[in-house]
Amino acid sequence: MLRTQVVQRLREVKGSTLAVTSPRAGEGKTLISCNLAVSLARLTDLGVLLVDLDLRRPSVLSTFGFAPTNGISDHLLRGVPLADCFVDPGIDRLLVLPGGAASPKSSELLSPVLMSKLTAELVDRHADRIIVYDLPPVLMIADALVFLEHVDACLLVVEQGRTRREDVTRCLELLEKINVIGTVLNKTRAATQTYGYGYGY
Ligand SMILES: Nc1ncnc2c1ncn2[C@@H]1O[C@H](COP(=O)(O)OP(=O)(O)OP(=O)(O)O)[C@@H](O)[C@H]1O
Ligand SMILES: [Mg+2]
Repeated sequence: MLRTQVVQRLREVKGSTLAVTSPRAGEGKTLISCNLAVSLARLTDLGVLLVDLDLRRPSVLSTFGFAPTNGISDHLLRGVPLADCFVDPGIDRLLVLPGGAASPKSSELLSPVLMSKLTAELVDRHADRIIVYDLPPVLMIADALVFLEHVDACLLVVEQGRTRREDVTRCLELLEKINVIGTVLNKTRAATQTYGYGYGY
């Protein structure tokens, strides 16, 4: 259901880049980014690039069960060529760009100058793919908000029973100029009961 709505809304805005964020830590951004990317890649007419931009705590690769490898922080801090950072997770039409080594400088790495260059390069090289960015939480990392200016659309993850109402309101105020195409209510009790382990879409 999430995939269908995302595809529809991206088409409406003629966009191909989507960021997944949430107000605070642990609300399910990474799991939803990964599941959504896999689900999008199953549509046979689409290729997908999943990018881990949560450089304070990159966790896309570990979510797929892979050991850490070079990624964006190694590219930005140590000059590792971007082309050497991509990982093939063994799922048709899906490519992953990992975050790399966790960086205490993560906020600086998300600077507008570096990010406009990176996003332009990714769109340029992967024009045929939907790009899904797993972002840090908007209310905790200032540059997550700035980064959102580089994407066509944004999904806001909210955790049932945990995300605070005022945090959602604050987020939506901050995201006023961003194309928020929807929110995902994650870890819902109903979904947990239906699917056993909680794909809370
Ligand atoms: N729908 C769900 N059902 C069950 N468990 C979930 C669900 N969504 C996320 N989780 C679990 O909750 C924890 C946090 O999820 P995840 O790492 O995706 O959140 P996050 O928002 O990316 O966190 P962080 O801010 O630390 O990056 C993980 O252990 C994940 O497996
Ligand atoms: Mg995460």
